Amino acid sequence: MEVKTSLLDNMIGVGDMVLLEPLSEDSFIANLRNRFDHNEIYTYIGSVVISMNPYRSLPIFTPEKVEEYRNRNFYELSPHIYALADEAYRSLRDQDKDQCILITGESGAGKTEASKLVMSYVAAVCGKGQEVNKVKEQLLQSNPVLEAFGNAKTVRNDNSSRFGKYMDIEFDFKGDPLGGVISNYLLEKSRVVKQPRGERNFHIFYQLLSGASDDTLKKLKLDRDFSKYNYLSLDSAAVNGLDDAANFRTVRNAMQIVGFMEDEVQSVLELVAAVLKLGNIEFKPESRCNGNDESRIRDKNDLKEMCELLGTEQTVLERAFSYRTVEAKQEKVCTTLNVAQAYYARDALAKNLYSRLFSWLVTRINESIKAAPKSRHKVMGVLDIYGFEIFEENSFEQFIINYCNEKLQQIFIELTLREEQEEYVREGIEWTNIEYFNNAIICDLIENHQNGILAMLDEECLRPGTVTDETFLDKLNTICAEHLHFESRLSKSSKFLTDHSLPHNCFRIQHYAGKVLYRAEGFVDKNNDLLYRDLSQAMYKANHSLMKQLFPEGNPAKVNLKRPPTAGFQFRHSVGTLMRNLQTKNPNYIRCIKPNDKKASHIFTDSLVCHQVRYLGLMENVRVRRAGYAFRQAYEPCLERYKMLCKRTWPHWRGPAREGVEVLMADLTVPAEEFSYGRSKVFIRNPRTLFFLEERRRQCLQDLATLIQKIYRGWKCRSHFLLLKKSQIVVAAWYRRYAQQNKYKRIKSATTVVQSYTRGWQARKLLRELKYQKRCEEAVTTISAYWHGTQARRELRRLKEEARRKHAVAVIWAYWKGLKVRREYRKFFRANAGKKIYNFTIQRIMQKYFLGLKSTMPSMSPIDKSWPVKPYLFLDGVHSELRRIFHLWRCTKYRSEFTEEKKAVFEEKLEASEIFKDKKALYASSVSQPFMGDYLEISKNPKYQKLNSAMDEKVLLADVVNKINRANGKGTARIFLLTKNSVVLADQKTGQVKASVPLPDLTSVSVSTQSDGFFALKLKEGSASAIKGDFLLSSEHLIEIITKLHRTGATAADSEQLNIDISDEFLVQFKHDKVCVKFIQGAPKNGNSVSCKRKNNRLLEVSVPSTV
Ligand SMILES: Nc1ncnc2c1ncn2[C@@H]1O[C@H](COP(=O)(O)OP(=O)(O)OP(=O)(O)O)[C@@H](O)[C@H]1O
Ligand SMILES: [Mg+2]
Repeated sequence: MEVKTSLLDNMIGVGDMVLLEPLSEDSFIANLRNRFDHNEIYTYIGSVVISMNPYRSLPIFTPEKVEEYRNRNFYELSPHIYALADEAYRSLRDQDKDQCILITGESGAGKTEASKLVMSYVAAVCGKGQEVNKVKEQLLQSNPVLEAFGNAKTVRNDNSSRFGKYMDIEFDFKGDPLGGVISNYLLEKSRVVKQPRGERNFHIFYQLLSGASDDTLKKLKLDRDFSKYNYLSLDSAAVNGLDDAANFRTVRNAMQIVGFMEDEVQSVLELVAAVLKLGNIEFKPESRCNGNDESRIRDKNDLKEMCELLGTEQTVLERAFSYRTVEAKQEKVCTTLNVAQAYYARDALAKNLYSRLFSWLVTRINESIKAAPKSRHKVMGVLDIYGFEIFEENSFEQFIINYCNEKLQQIFIELTLREEQEEYVREGIEWTNIEYFNNAIICDLIENHQNGILAMLDEECLRPGTVTDETFLDKLNTICAEHLHFESRLSKSSKFLTDHSLPHNCFRIQHYAGKVLYRAEGFVDKNNDLLYRDLSQAMYKANHSLMKQLFPEGNPAKVNLKRPPTAGFQFRHSVGTLMRNLQTKNPNYIRCIKPNDKKASHIFTDSLVCHQVRYLGLMENVRVRRAGYAFRQAYEPCLERYKMLCKRTWPHWRGPAREGVEVLMADLTVPAEEFSYGRSKVFIRNPRTLFFLEERRRQCLQDLATLIQKIYRGWKCRSHFLLLKKSQIVVAAWYRRYAQQNKYKRIKSATTVVQSYTRGWQARKLLRELKYQKRCEEAVTTISAYWHGTQARRELRRLKEEARRKHAVAVIWAYWKGLKVRREYRKFFRANAGKKIYNFTIQRIMQKYFLGLKSTMPSMSPIDKSWPVKPYLFLDGVHSELRRIFHLWRCTKYRSEFTEEKKAVFEEKLEASEIFKDKKALYASSVSQPFMGDYLEISKNPKYQKLNSAMDEKVLLADVVNKINRANGKGTARIFLLTKNSVVLADQKTGQVKASVPLPDLTSVSVSTQSDGFFALKLKEGSASAIKGDFLLSSEHLIEIITKLHRTGATAADSEQLNIDISDEFLVQFKHDKVCVKFIQGAPKNGNSVSCKRKNNRLLEVSVPSTV
């Protein structure tokens, strides 16, 4: 159920000043203070919101707050700016009424912040979508850009808007934003060239110098140091809580979002830089022959840089600062400028340049945010304009600003009254005239076309002849002297002749918000806002697209001799347009109040607030609002709020709400003159009546609260009791269950014990029986076994006895028979028959043996080891002997079949075996290889014909060997020839004899024990062949070569027996060195080959791959 609340709930003071009782300035301010102290910064006067600047962030602008105020009635919740924004937005969307939000207040009162809060609220509650969000973002981001260029730090406000702003936000029929239009009013351009003490120039200058990159500054020919620029005041360059560098980034980003192109941003920054440069141009006087001083530029460096930035010719600008051309009809008069005029011209140019740049920015933003021209748009205007200003010295600017505020006050009073009146008519309540101060008279004093102050100022400015501020003041004194709100010392009215608070060069106006003293000095100049044509033409000539747009009047083709409209005229005109615009819209007011001058939170200065309350006309506002009826409320919420005060309406009223309220009022006996019944609302004349109702309601609520408390307590106690009762049952049930469970468990376990004992007893009994039975069976078996055993043994003994007897009978019978036969045949046997039988038996056995041997003879192969098995043990010796004889016979037979050559081969093989068997590992592989001798077929091969013919004797062996180089151990192929008397080594390719060693010169041959083919031929010391030293050779047929060498050496004439030395380490003589040849076993590598390496003078190492 939705909870209905009201503004009247939990009020601190009164939320609506209309309800203030008694109404006086003091009570008004006390109420504001009370609320301010409790962080309630918003208070209503009817539908007007008074906003106090809290000077600190309060947690009342959160998204949750937005949701809270969304779609709620204005008086439903405590006062808030969101309530006003919501009301305005809803009546725009639902009732199709254009709205305007008028935010007024003095500088620093929070107008700009309020306008941003309104915009952000509307942005949060209106439609969503990609396109809509883009529009919202652009509208919101226009603020930082305009604030950077149009706001400045003043003594009153660190972010003071120095221009007036009115923004129309356009919505479609659904309430989605489509775009907007911004209008700007009178930028305070004098600030560009001079700032009051403690104030700053516009933010953008400081932001640019602090935030731009070094590169950008270099391009703009700027220096980061503020002190280098005359136009920047230094005493408050750094502002607390203001980060210029970060703000510059925000502005750049905002410009990008709004839609500025990169080159546009660059152009804007160039103009800002140009203004700074312009401020640094200084002049010096130069005397002319006519006695006048003419101005000259002191240092042209800044001028040069500025001209480079703007693309202007330096000479053109230089001239424009020294001369002034006045054109009148066909005449052109050129006059020189003195130093003061030159400075005036410089500052006028800077001011114009900056203010035009600002206006261009507004136009450019408008271009981006403008809505597509479609069907009718609904419009919400937000006006954030400078507030009423009273300074110590007030000049033309304050005059203009205060005029604007006068106009706003006028429209405020008019519209408030009109609204009030309209409501009374709408509700059918009789309208009584209300007395109020109408400031139309002050507006008339200023803007009257004939004798208004602005009209006279214009007249004075346009008048030929000498025009000064004094002549202007004289004119005012004559024309406005009689006006009730105009005061001047020199006016005809004698009232002020002795008023020393009113200096002679000033005039005073009694504004609706108080008296303001204006100094007439500067009015004429500022109204004229004169920029020498030479300067505008120089600017137009600049090669800078933006400059051309800013100074269109400088175009020589469009020379306009007419004076441009004055500043006062322009302002009056734009204020007029604004007022007309506002009058077509439904107004919503936010009146901002500044609580103190120190920009501090929690300080509430009564006098300052009182002053603002006065000039904002707030008391007047309350009075107007209360003139008829102080309070009004629709019937439904009224009945809802007070129905508990009458038994007939409480708790439910079934009829129409109006009747319910009537019953209620009658029951409460409220005097009839205190209220009126409108069509939809009840109007209460006096706040007293409302407070009476509220008080009754409060008491009634207390009684109701007591009743509710009573019932609630009763209900609570009963609920508690019922709960206890229920719990008790549950606990008892649980306990019983638990007790029964325990009992059951005990019985169960006792049963189990008894059962187990019984079962144990039964089982033991059964076991005993079974054991007994088993023992009986065993006993029976044993007994029967013993019995059968005894029987069997008895039977066996009997059978044995019987068998013995039978055997004895047979033996006895055989002996007896033998005796009988021997006795019978003794007479037939000869004495030597036994020997014959023996011989015969032996013969028979031998015959059988030899015949068997014949049939099982082994083969004739000498290597066949088989031999038949011996048949009888006694033939053992014979059998082995026969085997030996057979083998010898078989070998003889085999040998007899040999030819002479084969015999020689076998002899060689035999010799090889004697030399190498079990001594050299290579031997085993050579056994199966036949010794071929002439591997090269030297006699047949034509290639070796020459070599063959060089041999005297028959070649016994010809083979290719590897001759190992004595120096490095590398091998060279050589032909090895062995004849009966010598060993010859010849070149393999050419066949040329390289060395011939007679066999007698050979003392020994050394080989290793391993599987390599290395052999060393050691020569007799001092022999002819031994000059180079021993030969180290290697051959695949080593076994054959050495064997043949051994055989041949043995048979050669006068040679001694050749020594064959088999060892893994032997000495050889190379020339004069004795070198040790050492064989080592190495890992198989390089295709398993033997490698030979001369390690040093004394060692040659042969690495033989291991054969395993
Ligand atoms: N609702 C707020 N919450 C917190 N601080 C605020 C609020 N309103 C204003 N302020 C503070 O007060 C300062 C001045 O406010 P703002 O700039 O809105 O004043 P202004 O009325 O626009 O003044 P001016 O007429 O000089 O432009 C702000 O910079 C901010 O610090
Ligand atoms: Mg502002």
